[in-house]
Amino acid sequence: MSETSYDFGMIGLGVMGRNLLLNMADHGFAAIGFDKDISKAALLESSATSDTVVKGVSTLAEMVQQLKRPRKLMMLVPAGPIVDSVIGDLLPLLEKDDIVIDGGNSHYTDTLARINYLKDKGIHFMGMGVSGGEHGARTGPSIMPGGDVEAWKELKPLLEAVSAKVNDEPCVAYMGKGAAGHYVKMVHNGIEYAIMQLISEVYDVLKQSLGLNNDELHEVFKKWNEGALQSFLIEISAAIFLNQDDITKDRLVDVILDKAGSKGTGKWTSQDAMNLPVSIPTIDMAVAMRDLSSYKEERVAAAALYKPKIKTVSNDREKVIAQLHDALYAAMIVCYAQGLSMLHKASAELQMEIPLKDVVRIWRGGCIIRSTLLETFTTAYKRDADLSNILLNKKVASLIKKTQNGLRKTVQRGAAGKIPVAGLSSALGYFDAWCSEKMPTNLIQAQRDFFGAHGYQRVDKEGSFHTEWE
Ligand code: 6PG
Repeated sequence: MSETSYDFGMIGLGVMGRNLLLNMADHGFAAIGFDKDISKAALLESSATSDTVVKGVSTLAEMVQQLKRPRKLMMLVPAGPIVDSVIGDLLPLLEKDDIVIDGGNSHYTDTLARINYLKDKGIHFMGMGVSGGEHGARTGPSIMPGGDVEAWKELKPLLEAVSAKVNDEPCVAYMGKGAAGHYVKMVHNGIEYAIMQLISEVYDVLKQSLGLNNDELHEVFKKWNEGALQSFLIEISAAIFLNQDDITKDRLVDVILDKAGSKGTGKWTSQDAMNLPVSIPTIDMAVAMRDLSSYKEERVAAAALYKPKIKTVSNDREKVIAQLHDALYAAMIVCYAQGLSMLHKASAELQMEIPLKDVVRIWRGGCIIRSTLLETFTTAYKRDADLSNILLNKKVASLIKKTQNGLRKTVQRGAAGKIPVAGLSSALGYFDAWCSEKMPTNLIQAQRDFFGAHGYQRVDKEGSFHTEWE
């Protein structure tokens, strides 16, 4: 190919960068990728589909020179200082109106700072969430771009082509102003953490309380995935129970250590929710439980000290499984509700104008939290685009009404049987508080005024009041 003839450039040819670029090439875009690691540039070329235009280079200048103008490039590098360092390297090579996308999981405040920094230099900088992992990147991820509208218009055809499709509709849409793309992706990940936590708790009850083996667990999850719980995370859970470990020949899931790491997006969601403030306790709990999982030695010592005796269930297996199904279903709805209510609040507070109807629409396919429930939410937001909490929608309410009993029973079973169900019970606790016309917060107001003269409001009069309590 002659110079200046590539449609799109990718910086960082790790798993995500390579696969997303190959996806672009599969859709007829001439794609060029850069990685300092020459073997990654070579792997890009060798994994390309025949008859596609794909080139791997190991200097940034080589890539930038060969891009059509205005240049369109994306970084898929680890979030943090590396993003700034790549921007620093890129700047002398770019021209006015070039478009630079950060497709990684950057913190939205970093993205905002970068947008402002690059705007002065005439560069369109866009924060964009990409979800779907390796497979999604290659075959169709859910894509969450935000910020620069001009850049979005320029990129729309390409992003629509490479994104996942649901009923022929692309799973990409403009997510709002400023760093909305990264904000929406952050909350997506918060919901991802929460749903994963809920699934793990239900697995725990099925395994420890009901004594299901991995084949039975597979069957339960497989069946669930064919019904109302249909979702990517249930689907992969079903598959996981069948995987065999090459070393021990046991099921792999049983030889994996019970400690989960994290890269921080769940924590950021919780931190930002507290700043707004908005309540997302199931996401908070999922972050807390992952953190607690890393205290393995302490947990082992505590188990030896307190000797929790798990209560097993020997009869009514089918009934308990049905309750667990409902518990997961209701709690999953609550997780989405928490995340979406956070987006609603953040959109107003940070003036992002996030279109929630498009958020749920593009989460229906390609992303990690895709599920059949998102179809219901899409219908709900079509009816009321400014819904502050999805639980206020009548259809969603009917689903919760049908399943909340299973959630209550499961939380009871967990508490009585000493199986930790902190995520499920946080979802129930949130739901019960959220639909309490009267919370016991009057007492908290009184206490604050008692010890700190913070004042309180009354039910019968406007204004702030103080009492000399003693
Ligand atoms: C996705 C994922 C993806 C990644 C997260 C996981 O949407 O494709 O969310 O972004 O898997 O980084 O985050 P943790 O490492 O924090 O679990």
